[in-house]
Amino acid sequence: MNLDKFMLRAINESKRFKFTAKPNPVVGAILVKDKEIISEGYHEFFGKNHAEINAIIKAKKLIGKKFNTFDELTLICTLEPCCHHGKTGPCTDAIVESGIKNVVIGALDPNPKVSGKGIKILKENNINILHGVLEKEVEKSNEFFFFKHKTKKPYITVKIARSLNDVSYYANGFPAKITSKESRNDVQTLRANYDAILTGGNTIKNDNPRMNTRVDFATNQSKKILLSSKKFDKEKYKFFYDSDIDIHLNKNLKDIISCYTKSEINSILIEAGPKLTNSFLESGLVDSLIIYSSSSNINGETVKWKISKNTISNLGFKLESRSDIGSDIKEIYKNE
Ligand SMILES: NC(=O)c1ccc[n+]([C@@H]2O[C@H](COP(=O)([O-])OP(=O)(O)OC[C@H]3O[C@@H](n4cnc5c(N)ncnc54)[C@H](OP(=O)(O)O)[C@@H]3O)[C@@H](O)[C@H]2O)c1
Repeated sequence: MNLDKFMLRAINESKRFKFTAKPNPVVGAILVKDKEIISEGYHEFFGKNHAEINAIIKAKKLIGKKFNTFDELTLICTLEPCCHHGKTGPCTDAIVESGIKNVVIGALDPNPKVSGKGIKILKENNINILHGVLEKEVEKSNEFFFFKHKTKKPYITVKIARSLNDVSYYANGFPAKITSKESRNDVQTLRANYDAILTGGNTIKNDNPRMNTRVDFATNQSKKILLSSKKFDKEKYKFFYDSDIDIHLNKNLKDIISCYTKSEINSILIEAGPKLTNSFLESGLVDSLIIYSSSSNINGETVKWKISKNTISNLGFKLESRSDIGSDIKEIYKNE
């Protein structure tokens, strides 16, 4: 049986649910008899059935038509089946109960609640296991999830928008549209890719942003994280219109970020002004930096970023890509 072919299909199809499964990882499962796919299941929605369960439910409807008993089938799943009671029951129980006898796994689940334990339970129930099939591709499909469990911290990206003359905002706090419509739309898609969006109190006070994700595809909204000691009228400020918000009064960035090590949050996008952005960049907590630079100046009383090419490289960031976007330039730097 060409296991790579089925595993690759499970990986690729699972990615369709990246935005509705988040902050959970994307997972795919395929049940195969000989060389034929009997059923496929994906983790489509956060909090709902895992991929293996969906594949088993679909296959049950085909008993007596395409196969007679589950021991005729091989289960191919991208991630080690879970063995804990989360929002749904353990997948290992469903697999054992179904009578499946052969399981092929892409990558071990890096989550310590599961890692290796899912496989152990399956083996104890006399199920044959093969794991490590296209492991790297599975890890790549869940980059932030694997990063968080390996490094014990969420993946952190800082995004900034600046004018040609390096302006961040008007000194009087008057909201400034710095970049083009294309860049602003790109930021919406960027937000969809992160489990949380983080900002500071002055940005809320001056810009009154909603900071949710407005895209033309289905996505779970990201958690919002606010670092501020200010008291806000929650009726007046749009940021508070959504419910999933964490507020930190503390100013120690390492402590704040460490709050998320054991949470479901695998990635954080920082969209803040120069004070908070610079504190983050200097903290060593940032993994990538995205700069949208416009092609025109902003004049008047302004506050500048003061993030030069030298500062960026002294902080350990290397340019990974540079592209045109509308009338702006988008640069992505990675911390190595
Ligand atoms: N061009 C852009 O890409 C962009 C993006 C976002 C915002 N902005 C602009 O930025 C302006 C606000 O700038 P800002 O520099 O004051 O940024 P900010 O985004 O409001 O962040 C600064 C605030 O973060 C809080 N904070 C908590 N821990 C901190 C730490 N360790 N270091 C620094 N701050 C910490 C403090 O809130 P408290 O003082 O409330 O305790 C502090 O005043 C707004 O007018 C907005 O328009 C520009």
